[in-house]
Amino acid sequence: MDKLFVDLGEKSYDIIISDSFLHLPKCLEEINVQKKILIVTDSNVAELYGDEVNTIFQNNGYDSHIYIFDAGEENKTMDTILGICRACMEHKMDRKSMIVALGGGVVGDMAGFAAAIYMRGIDFIQIPTTLLSQSDSSVGGKTGIDFMDGKNILGAFHQPKLVYMNVTTLKTLPKEQFVSGMGEVIKHGIISDSCFFEYLEKNVENIKELDSETLINMDKTNCSIKADVVIKDERETGLRANLNFGHTIGHAIESAYNFKMTHGECVGLGMIGASFIALNRGYITNDTLHRIEHILKMYGFKTKVKLPSLDVVFEFMQKDKKKLDGKLKFVLPVSIGEVVQKNDVIKEEIFAALEYISQQEK
Ligand SMILES: NC(=O)c1ccc[n+]([C@@H]2O[C@H](COP(=O)([O-])OP(=O)(O)OC[C@H]3O[C@@H](n4cnc5c(N)ncnc54)[C@H](O)[C@@H]3O)[C@@H](O)[C@H]2O)c1
Repeated sequence: MDKLFVDLGEKSYDIIISDSFLHLPKCLEEINVQKKILIVTDSNVAELYGDEVNTIFQNNGYDSHIYIFDAGEENKTMDTILGICRACMEHKMDRKSMIVALGGGVVGDMAGFAAAIYMRGIDFIQIPTTLLSQSDSSVGGKTGIDFMDGKNILGAFHQPKLVYMNVTTLKTLPKEQFVSGMGEVIKHGIISDSCFFEYLEKNVENIKELDSETLINMDKTNCSIKADVVIKDERETGLRANLNFGHTIGHAIESAYNFKMTHGECVGLGMIGASFIALNRGYITNDTLHRIEHILKMYGFKTKVKLPSLDVVFEFMQKDKKKLDGKLKFVLPVSIGEVVQKNDVIKEEIFAALEYISQQEK
């Protein structure tokens, strides 16, 4: 078991990284949780881990109940939030009760948002079960739901009391979901830690084979990078925007493909696009671009894609909610381990990048 401390003053919390759920009761004792708990999970995760986790709570004297919604981003809606809140009322949860998010990023975002608004805010903990949620969404306190065709339009910053990850849950994760999560992990190496990037280059086989010790090491460094950014800029007024590396183009590709490609896969292509812009500006060398492409390939990413139309992707980019004063913000690498934020990237540079990633594989 490994542990990280996210230092956010009175909102601080631990991240526990383990290869089982065994340490969960002890960790709950340490945060002094009241006995009434609602476990929020989706239909897939409930089947795999719902009973196991609920039994741990019940065997340790907690009055726990489960709320299950149908898996999928399409259910990340206000209706589901109201369902969770209704369950909280039915189980007579009060301001001292707690919500447990057991699942991927969709569960975490919704359970966290329900916890942020129920009785003006109650505690919640995250038990992330996808690589994306273990490497990214469970750390940082962003919660929310999709609204009127927009992703994460309604939400709140609400930090968890504890994040408990059991890396063995990744063994049941579909392969494409694992690859999607690796997109965020590789991103963290590129934006701020060249040693971590090298670790990912050297440990491809162990990571792909889901070796627990390697995954614990990977999750620990990965989460410390994300946590460090969050500690310095909790509300995304500056540095936290570096986490959007690959997302300006990536989100637009995701929308152009009507969310048929995974988020991580699109971020991977977005990172290549942004790196190509950086290459043309002389920020990075050809070698650095090829290293980024190579690591993505090794982890199973497509590095080229047939885009429906460059204009369509560009149009989607104009809807980016991270636009500032009407200008798109790009995060561009200057080396492996360092990026800069730029809002002066012009249309021609973006089209050149889109053309580069839309070339067919030779
Ligand atoms: N809050 C943040 O900072 C933040 C950051 C990035 C992404 N997100 C959000 O996260 C969401 C995506 O998260 P995700 O990729 O985890 O998607 P997800 O929660 O939909 O999980 C993907 C699929 O895997 C299944 N699953 C989960 N754990 C499993 C396991 N151990 N074994 C087998 N199947 C399992 C789920 O049921 C689902 O079908 C998006 O809604 C995105 O907006 C939030």
